[in-house]
Amino acid sequence: MSDKKTVFSGIQPTGDIHIGNYLGALRNWVNLQDSYDAIYCVVDLHAITVPFDPVALHRSRLNTAKLLLAVGVDPARSLLYFQSQVPQHAELSWMLSTITSLGALNRMTQFKEKANKAGENLGLFAYPVLMAADILVHKAHAVPVGDDQTQHLELARDLSERFNSRYGEEFPVPEQITPEMGARIMSLKNPTTKMSKSDEDPNTRVLLLDEPDTIRKRFKAAVTDSEREIRYDREEKPGISNLLDILALFTQRSIDDLVEEYHDTPYGHFKVTVGEAVVEGLSPIRSAFYGLDDEEVTRIMVKGALDARTRAEGEMASVRKKLGFDARLGQRA
Ligand code: TYM
Repeated sequence: MSDKKTVFSGIQPTGDIHIGNYLGALRNWVNLQDSYDAIYCVVDLHAITVPFDPVALHRSRLNTAKLLLAVGVDPARSLLYFQSQVPQHAELSWMLSTITSLGALNRMTQFKEKANKAGENLGLFAYPVLMAADILVHKAHAVPVGDDQTQHLELARDLSERFNSRYGEEFPVPEQITPEMGARIMSLKNPTTKMSKSDEDPNTRVLLLDEPDTIRKRFKAAVTDSEREIRYDREEKPGISNLLDILALFTQRSIDDLVEEYHDTPYGHFKVTVGEAVVEGLSPIRSAFYGLDDEEVTRIMVKGALDARTRAEGEMASVRKKLGFDARLGQRA
């Protein structure tokens, strides 16, 4: 085992991956691969908490795996697998559910939003407990996510502390890693709400695999404001500020630098510039995606699941023992 700290994160295979997912989370996944022992997961068990079609799910989880590889998750440096193939996640989730208060779950804003849209069920309610188990089953120290996951991460931290104080030191308290810029990319149509996979209007987002012309169109139609000045102000100018964030992240330039250059540029021209930068930035991802072979990716995922299972089983032996589930006969140590 390496002496590096462990980083874990997950992404749902629902809908398609957009630039919010990429800028808020996936770029960090890729950047952290060398400095951490990195474990990344396509969280397909989370995806069945809302109505779904099994055939479509089967296809979209493979596509999600392919996109993760295409953005630069490298199976030689990271463990990558499907959550449903590592049953220890669900086992630990059950254990953690017994120390989770209903009050904490009732306060989850994502539960309320999703339940309002898709209808409630016990799995959707318990979703954050499974997410905590994902992180804790690998004893992860850090979790790269966008800022919409903060409330879930807080529960994971609480559960880690509660388990440790009740049953003995077992889990690190995982730290959230969010990028300084890009932790919350906003909808292109309504820049006061976040860009989301589940928004009914596809014009609100740009997907990593969108055709260049679609990307250009989406940015041309992006909602801005009635002024004529390009400056960064998330309160007063959420649309322009979101476009500045996106441009800065795709061109690796600072906001100040961009504001200086584009301050007096007409909005229409500025939106074309942003669209072009995104088309260019996504082009290597598109080519990498279409160059991947499904069978090869399936092999990578099977190997990842085997390794993740071995690893999680090693961690669970000590968790089980703490709860009195030691497989051996005799006294508890
Ligand atoms: P998911 O699949 O909704 O999103 C994947 C990642 O993308 C981030 N994200 C964003 N970042 C910036 N701007 C946005 N508009 C935006 N939209 C999404 C999310 O914060 C996330 O990091 N519950 C998680 C999946 C999960 C998980 C885990 C994550 C399950 N178990 C354990 C970390 C650790 C989710 O639904 O992400």
